Amino acid sequence: MTRGTKHFNINILNAVMSISGELLKVIMRNYPTGVTIVTTVYNNEYYGLTVNSFTSLSLDPPLVLIAIDKRLASHEAIDKSNVYAVNILPDDMRDLAVRFATAPREERFKGLRIRTARTGSPIIEGAIAYLDCKVVAKYPGGDHTIFIGEVVDAQVMSNKSPLIYYNRGGYYSIRQATPL
Ligand SMILES: Cc1cc2nc3c(=O)[nH]c(=O)nc-3n(C[C@H](O)[C@H](O)[C@H](O)COP(=O)(O)O)c2cc1C
Repeated sequence: MTRGTKHFNINILNAVMSISGELLKVIMRNYPTGVTIVTTVYNNEYYGLTVNSFTSLSLDPPLVLIAIDKRLASHEAIDKSNVYAVNILPDDMRDLAVRFATAPREERFKGLRIRTARTGSPIIEGAIAYLDCKVVAKYPGGDHTIFIGEVVDAQVMSNKSPLIYYNRGGYYSIRQATPL
């Protein structure tokens, strides 16, 4: 009886102390990010999606991370292939960011010039840079999975300006931004 009561109280405390997903979204709208397309190859098929949860994690060894929604087809593909490439988008690839977030999978790579690096994941020509990664750890992150990737190959491909995603209006270029 006592144990049951304790458990009940802790649950109430948790409910009071956590915020809604909607509030989290509102807060995150104030945090601009770069934009990437994360790709993989699984069963001889290319997968790719627009991702802004990309972060560098460690320099030695060189590690990055992405957080992917567990319900997505891309999640299963990365989880099974254990490889991914991060393509960092320039500001002239806004339409591609929209395409890889909304178009049916079979249309996403249409007309793109693709090459591959070490892992076989597609590298998109015209991106600013790529990081080709082998998955070395997976951590549960609520409704997402955090895929930690060891960077096995990487290259800067152009000096174009990066595409920015800012949820108070969508996509931006930083070319007119004022240095402070
Ligand atoms: C700017 C932007 C950033 C995004 N970042 C992520 C992300 O970090 N992780 C994620 O799981 N989905 C993210 N998404 C959503 C996916 O791109 C979208 O759900 C996509 O259609 C999933 O493809 P799939 O269903 O083929 O796997 C983002 C969308 C946009 C527009």
